[in-house]
Amino acid sequence: MHGNSPQPERKLRSRAWFDNPANVDMTALYLERYLNFGLSQEELQSGKPIIGIAQTGSDLSPCNRHHLELAKRTREGIREAGGIAIEFPVHPIQETGKRPTAGLDRNLAYLGLVEVLYGYPLDGVVLTIGCDKTTPACLMAAATVNIPAIALSVGPMLNGWYKGERTGSGTIVWKARELLATGEIDYAGFVKLVASSAPSTGYCNTMGTATTMNSLAEALGMQLPGSAAIPAPYRDRQEVAYRTGLRIVEMVAEDLKPSDILTRDAFLNAIRVNSAIGGSTNAPIHLNALARHIGVELSIDDWQTYGEDVPLLVNLQPAGEYLGEDYYHAGGVPAVVNQLMEQGLIVEDALTANGRSIGDNCRSAKIEDEAVIRPYEKPLKEKAGFRVLRGNLFSSAIMKMSVISPEFRARYLSNPDDPDAFEGRAVVFDGPEDYHHRIDDPELAIDETTVLFMRGAGPIGYPGAAEVVNMRAPDYLIKAGIHTLPCIGDGRQSGTSGSPSILNASPEAAAGGGLALLRTGDRVRIDLKRNSANMLISEEELARRRDALAAEGGYRFPPHQTPWQEIQRALVGQMETGAVLEPAVRYQRIAQT
Ligand code: FES
Ligand code: MG
Repeated sequence: MHGNSPQPERKLRSRAWFDNPANVDMTALYLERYLNFGLSQEELQSGKPIIGIAQTGSDLSPCNRHHLELAKRTREGIREAGGIAIEFPVHPIQETGKRPTAGLDRNLAYLGLVEVLYGYPLDGVVLTIGCDKTTPACLMAAATVNIPAIALSVGPMLNGWYKGERTGSGTIVWKARELLATGEIDYAGFVKLVASSAPSTGYCNTMGTATTMNSLAEALGMQLPGSAAIPAPYRDRQEVAYRTGLRIVEMVAEDLKPSDILTRDAFLNAIRVNSAIGGSTNAPIHLNALARHIGVELSIDDWQTYGEDVPLLVNLQPAGEYLGEDYYHAGGVPAVVNQLMEQGLIVEDALTANGRSIGDNCRSAKIEDEAVIRPYEKPLKEKAGFRVLRGNLFSSAIMKMSVISPEFRARYLSNPDDPDAFEGRAVVFDGPEDYHHRIDDPELAIDETTVLFMRGAGPIGYPGAAEVVNMRAPDYLIKAGIHTLPCIGDGRQSGTSGSPSILNASPEAAAGGGLALLRTGDRVRIDLKRNSANMLISEEELARRRDALAAEGGYRFPPHQTPWQEIQRALVGQMETGAVLEPAVRYQRIAQT
């Protein structure tokens, strides 16, 4: 039905601006300003749907910058299907460049986009997603406003190569840092090696947060099937931009809204896909946030209940070897969903943006390269989901099971009497600056029995929550062959890191969590059988420390540097429940009324 889509009977919301007989003065005012760049009165009053293109690309957002090109094809699709495209900017977020952390800006971009979608004459919207936080910010805003919305991924960069080996975004930094520490490369070599991982436009080519969130946007049903994994520079990416433009016009005609797609079933599908792809530990934060904005019940425990037992099928760095182009050629998200469908792990009738169910979309999807996407029976790892841990350190934190290496297991989980637990001595850092200052300080006496703690890095403490829980071992241990120590913290961790960390601890130290009471030298015990993480400190001593901290005025964090930091700190919730702006959750489906 492309080209001559029948116009919907329903009155489009843009009519209230451009064709409102009850208020001709305002209609004239609304019309004249859109006429000034060449749209005609006939077009604006034709009854054609007005489709927003929420543009996240800019020079400040290199990961999403290719959307500036793709939007041209999206416009052609919109026009071809009988719509009128209006492109507008979204607050830029670039994951690695934003200080103090891009996490701070997710809720800001969300707020800004809610205002635009609600307050302007838009009947539907194409969400241009890509770099880590741009995806949840856009989806969350579409959920709150609830006008027809479809996401378009910008796609990953091409594979990075260095001396015949794949170099993946982010992941290569950890390796390069070790080579620098051991003196195998110098600073120039370090930069060259890291830069080799970014050979083209697009987002991170590893299974970091970007590939994760773009895959999950497809698994949730918010993108056209098969579109998430297409590398940014491929011609297929241009085609899907065009098809996305065609499709959003149909979605407006069908009144297919985010609330029709983002059901609890869709979220459970996404949780399982996240395990199978080896998805980022940022996914629970963002999906729980999205669920709250659309009004779906989803708890942190759902991630363990539905996701933990799902095996790792996608062999991408950091858990595996390959990169984004390989993922696409191997079949991308539909091939993964198909494998899960055969096990009954996908709710097949969940509706997706193309108007069909995820089951119909993925029923015939095949794996094209079993080295990159494994069949369910031959996984890379069993039980690749997240474990939810609790104890006197925090009321919840998660651990990504797929990155626990055999070496780590041998070193920490090898006691035959107690095979799933380990104890260690805590070394505590207050924020990333403190860690960078002191990690190589011999006085801390860090050895292979140490558990590194990072606190003051949560949504309030380091506003937005920093990706800093994954800490490298001191140089002297790396030289001795000890590369990873267990890390625990109230911050986040980059999806491109392969560290066995316990992170997203809620409540954070700055919100009165148990981490605030921990001291360097304390013994801690992690028990993966009981899903517990505790400081081995008596109740009496903990009470004493709690009183002492309260007397000092509570856990201290750095002062606000910008107005938004202060506003976010006052209104943000904890990571367990999505780190959303709590008052915003009251506003749901606001465009329907
Ligand atoms: Fe933008 Fe990784 S830094 S996608
Ligand atoms: Mg990241």
